[in-house]
Amino acid sequence: MNPSVPAPSPLSRIRPDVRAMHAYHVAPSDGLLKLDAMENPFSLPPALQRALGERLGALQLNRYPGGARQEALKAALAAHAGAPEGSALMLGNGSDELISLLALACAQPAADRRRAVVLAPVPGFVMYAMSAQLQGLDFVGVPLTPDFELDERAMLAAIAAHHPAITYLAYPNNPTATLWDEGAMQRIVDAVAAQGGIVAIDEAYQPFASRSWIERMRAEPARNAHVLLMRTLSKFGLAGVRLGYLIGPAALVGEIDKVRPPYNISVLNCEAALFALEHADVFADQAAELRGERELLIARLRAMPGVQRVWDSQANMVLVRVPDAARTFQGMKDRGVLVKNVSTMHALLAQCLRLTVGSAQDNAQMLAALEASL
Ligand SMILES: Cc1ncc(COP(=O)(O)O)c(C=O)c1O
Repeated sequence: MNPSVPAPSPLSRIRPDVRAMHAYHVAPSDGLLKLDAMENPFSLPPALQRALGERLGALQLNRYPGGARQEALKAALAAHAGAPEGSALMLGNGSDELISLLALACAQPAADRRRAVVLAPVPGFVMYAMSAQLQGLDFVGVPLTPDFELDERAMLAAIAAHHPAITYLAYPNNPTATLWDEGAMQRIVDAVAAQGGIVAIDEAYQPFASRSWIERMRAEPARNAHVLLMRTLSKFGLAGVRLGYLIGPAALVGEIDKVRPPYNISVLNCEAALFALEHADVFADQAAELRGERELLIARLRAMPGVQRVWDSQANMVLVRVPDAARTFQGMKDRGVLVKNVSTMHALLAQCLRLTVGSAQDNAQMLAALEASL
């Protein structure tokens, strides 16, 4: 090696598109009331904290995860969700991982004439586009209507034009909190079937929604033979645990499961999830309280002078339009409340803030900060 010639930088070995991209930004939140990421505001009751601690402490941390406990977790999740007869379930380290694995399983070799396509309504959850980019699929975003409903005609036209491998329908959607019209959903699901594609229905916010697609899957399995239902325990109350799951026809789930890292769910995630499902009533009560708080929050936001628009919500978030989102966001932060400024994510979200629904006390503090910052 010639010491006068500098060695090339190892950074040159990192993909140019990765070097050009920004990492997923998690906003610093120390000392702030955190209402930016749709987390459940309630912690476990003290008696359950102690019982969970004992359960976790007794685990065999020296052994790789898997085996009977993971099968027990799959069975408990299938029962909890009411999975259709004969369907299979796959576990992910949060649904973020499942989104990545689905893209990985569908990415076609670069030598192919056409890259595989991921299609989703926009604005939507950012990981659908990000997973496509990272795994070498093309992303097609179909704008929602200005009222944040599905543009059914545009969706059907895009499906016919692009033959997507994966069509995402977040049900309800993030960040608009919309639960799509069931008839439009069905026609899109049917159109994807006719093209031989996969539909991924992402029900991350199911604890706060009035409907689930699982009812359609149970009622008409053949019509949903290309549908994967994605759920997570994050919004249920366990965002820190990282546990997502995918329910679908066994043949399809079996193929995607092949690209899953073998030990992706730690024994701690698995046991904490099993424990939470044994106490599902505690979390169901919390979700019910948050649904009630959401309606109070929406009513108070609609009565607040200076808030231009408040959208209905079927999730634990509320989207609002204000005259100057950047100024209001900063004003709320200065008053100790962190929300999400989504106004630069998509043109349809101009001057919009996304507020997470918290406890009664959190929401009162958030409303006071908002009012003072408008
Ligand atoms: C629509 C949607 N899907 C999936 C996720 C990711 O959830 P998880 O915490 O399970 O990775 C989120 C997170 O905010 C989301 O909004």
